[in-house]
Amino acid sequence: MNDLFSNVIEICAGMHLLPSYADSSELQQPLNSVLAISPLRQMVTSRGFSMSVHTSNCGDAGWVSDRRGYRYVNIDPLTGQPWPAMPVEFTELAQSAASYAGFSGFVPDACLINHYQPGTQMGAHQDRDESDFSQPIVSVSLGIDARFFVIGPERRGTSIPVDLSDGDVVVFGGPARKHYHGVRKLKASTHPRFGSVRWNLTFRKAL
Ligand code: SIN
Ligand code: FE2
Repeated sequence: MNDLFSNVIEICAGMHLLPSYADSSELQQPLNSVLAISPLRQMVTSRGFSMSVHTSNCGDAGWVSDRRGYRYVNIDPLTGQPWPAMPVEFTELAQSAASYAGFSGFVPDACLINHYQPGTQMGAHQDRDESDFSQPIVSVSLGIDARFFVIGPERRGTSIPVDLSDGDVVVFGGPARKHYHGVRKLKASTHPRFGSVRWNLTFRKAL
């Protein structure tokens, strides 16, 4: 956590940006430990298209996509083993960011890890595979910059752009919990610690 932190920006009702809230130097090693157990992979959508983003998970549940659709599962289909435990650094960050944004008592049981290379993107979608929508989503960005966007409860409409850099945290819940959102195509750049990639960790109460 950044001790100098004092800033919260409301993106829209229920969605807050905590700039530079996370200290990414404390997250890199736990991230690598998770990926040593459950490596990155490219999932396939129900229509059979490969996602451009590579993913993995940690925690009791992991989000997967395949020809059968989207869901949370306890076993990593790639390894046949449970997902790696959520590192304590991850849990503490997600809990404190959530409570800073007004969601005290958030206990994430799933962390989806997304790995973006320049040229990759994430189309507008809702996070709606979780069981309890009273709980927020906490999204942590690491590495190179990206332009995130949020639309609203419908897929169509004007989007609000949000530029996210290393360490930025977005918390969305309440009226924004099911807002459509996504990530524009990443521009090439380099981060001193993470190189030419972006990581996004999204913490959820899935089960
Ligand atoms: C997501 O919506 O799952 C990812 C958001 C991001 O990469 O910032
Ligand atoms: Fe999402």
